[in-house]
Amino acid sequence: MVNLVQRPRRLRTTDSIRRLVRETHVTVDDLLYPMFVTTDDAVTEIASMPGIYRYPVDALLHAVEKAVNAGIHAIMLFGLPASKDELGSEGYALDGIVPTAIEALRRNFDRSLTIVPDVCLCEYTSHGHCGIINHSGAETDVDNDATLKLLARAAITYAQAGADMIAPSDMMDGRVGAIRAALDSSGFKSMPIMAYSAKYASAYYGPFREAADSAPQFGDRRSYQMDPPNRREAIREIALDIEEGADIVMVKPGLAYLDILREARDNFDVPMAVYNVSGEYSMVKAAAANGWIDEDRVINETLTAFKRAGADIILTYHAVEYALRLQ
Ligand code: PBG
Ligand code: ZN
Repeated sequence: MVNLVQRPRRLRTTDSIRRLVRETHVTVDDLLYPMFVTTDDAVTEIASMPGIYRYPVDALLHAVEKAVNAGIHAIMLFGLPASKDELGSEGYALDGIVPTAIEALRRNFDRSLTIVPDVCLCEYTSHGHCGIINHSGAETDVDNDATLKLLARAAITYAQAGADMIAPSDMMDGRVGAIRAALDSSGFKSMPIMAYSAKYASAYYGPFREAADSAPQFGDRRSYQMDPPNRREAIREIALDIEEGADIVMVKPGLAYLDILREARDNFDVPMAVYNVSGEYSMVKAAAANGWIDEDRVINETLTAFKRAGADIILTYHAVEYALRLQ
């Protein structure tokens, strides 16, 4: 006869006991909901991301109100401009789509809604790269240092429009420092920066590039986004961003990089964000549409994995549907 002293199963017998000993909880406090705002006058659903839309400003106000009613208190904004050019001018124009949307949101929502514009040029450049192109050298490449000035301009423009936090996603070297300096000298010393620090060159961004119409027209992003096999380099990127003044750092994508997230959490004592990116969302939606998975449980498990791996903030397109289920 077996006589076990230790039986972990004792604490799994009822739902109530399981709740008592549960180690990880994902609440609406943790969620940051990415949204797309467009200069078009129609709301369009993103084909590869069912349930996610590009909103004109007035429709965005309604969608944000719905999200807020569901319990969401923080959103990220991506802009789709009317026109694109070599220098991504609409990305930092005073009357660009993102500052226009921020101003409209600010008129309708107080600071209990946190507005976080993504700062990058790829949605605004005709070539789709995250920085401007230097054609003068032997190789065509993204001009790191020239791009910094434009990113800083975008950050100031969004701050002046009423943003609560700035989130650079371009992966240029030194952009956190450049943006920090520009914000400080423009009267925004208290504006936090959430840096996309360990951002990998990932195929999981595919649906986003359709959503934001931001696919590079030549080449790829491998000269600035990180090489997926690299782990130590992620720690270096995060350390640099913190030195340059990042208040929150991010690992992106999420699921394929949970090891990086855990290691980052163990190495740094700043709030850690993770981006549950478009491709991860699309895969869940596609499998669910086919009846192949239990969607709600898969979403719960996924968000829990991020929290358990060390994330404080989860950027996810599932935010509203998840929040609604918590109500
Ligand atoms: C822009 C940006 C991208 C994402 C966030 N900001 C795309 C990219 O870098 O190609 C990806 C988001 C997603 O896939 O959900 N630099
Ligand atoms: Zn970009």
